[in-house]
Amino acid sequence: MKRLSLIALALLVAVLGAGIFVDASAQQQAPAKAADAKPADKPADKPAAKPADAKPADPAPAKPAAAANPFNRLMIPKADRNPPPIKDGIHDPESPGTPMLQPPLDAFGGMPKSNAGNNINWVQAIKDKTINPRYDRLNPKEEPMILDLDIVREVKGFMPDVVYPHDRHTEWLDCSNCHPDIFIPQKGQNTISMAQILMGQKCGVCHGKVAFPVSECRLCHSKKKDQPKAASVSAPAAK
Ligand code: HEC
Ligand code: HEC
Ligand code: HEC
Repeated sequence: MKRLSLIALALLVAVLGAGIFVDASAQQQAPAKAADAKPADKPADKPAAKPADAKPADPAPAKPAAAANPFNRLMIPKADRNPPPIKDGIHDPESPGTPMLQPPLDAFGGMPKSNAGNNINWVQAIKDKTINPRYDRLNPKEEPMILDLDIVREVKGFMPDVVYPHDRHTEWLDCSNCHPDIFIPQKGQNTISMAQILMGQKCGVCHGKVAFPVSECRLCHSKKKDQPKAASVSAPAAK
């Protein structure tokens, strides 16, 4: 019995070890030359200079290996974050327009920093006017319609309640970005859960993709409960 479980453990370690190894080597190779990395697995990789054995045309534009799991974006080493457009896996590296775009690190120079997402505190940046977005493509004088309305969503259990601030969203977004497709504009008419958010629905349509990620619990769960239930839990120190 004991022998068996020892063998099982050894196997598990071997499998895990191999997994880590494959992962690390894939990550190292991805940015340099995708063509070298296991061609059989990734037919959609960068076409680069195609040899004569050419397969039929690539079905999709080039994608880096990391695109398979978008959550890995959170684990990119700091030095590799915010790559220039030609390497970001979003823009077409073949397009002559791509190298004309400003690399993010050039643009982010004087902006307030944060520890999450792409490391810029965008809420602070718009307050500071270190970014001054145009609200209409054609009319530079168009002003945003900022709505000063907080919606508090009570959360069962130990987490502080969620405050959804309209003002900090409508500085960037139009009402129609959320209403009515993502949220019915009526308090309490929407069910929202962390599971949905993690799966890219509700708040997760943006948070974790184009706005700060779900790891920043306290930015959303920012309101201390009105009547903390004495002694049931050690009250979390909410702002
Ligand atoms: C980023 C998404 C988002 C944007 C943009 C947005 N809202 Fe909302 N809005 C919400 C959420 C979330 C709620 C809360 C819904 C709930 O509690 O079920 C809400 C609720 C509302 C409510 C209901 C308030 C109440 O007390 O019942 C109104 C009215 C509203 N929004 C109007 C607007 C207007 C007008 C704009 C544009 C100026 C706007 N919203 C932009 C997400 C958004
Ligand atoms: C982008 C905003 C946002 C972030 C970031 C966020 N939450 Fe939430 N969370 C919500 C909303 C909205 C709800 C739903 C509240 C309701 O019931 O209406 C919720 C609900 C919850 C609940 C109640 C149970 C459930 O699944 O609905 C727990 C527990 C929770 N969050 C924990 C966390 C933890 C832990 C983190 C950080 C790892 C976190 N949340 C980060 C917005 C957020
Ligand atoms: C349509 C896109 C979109 C949706 C949907 C959305 N957000 Fe946001 N949210 C943003 C953007 C953009 C910002 C500003 C940039 C940033 O902070 O990353 C922002 C900022 C915030 C902030 C301000 C944080 C600060 O530093 O002050 C909070 C809080 C927040 N969101 C909570 C929520 C909650 C809760 C939901 C769901 C009920 C939600 N958001 C849904 C796009 C969205």
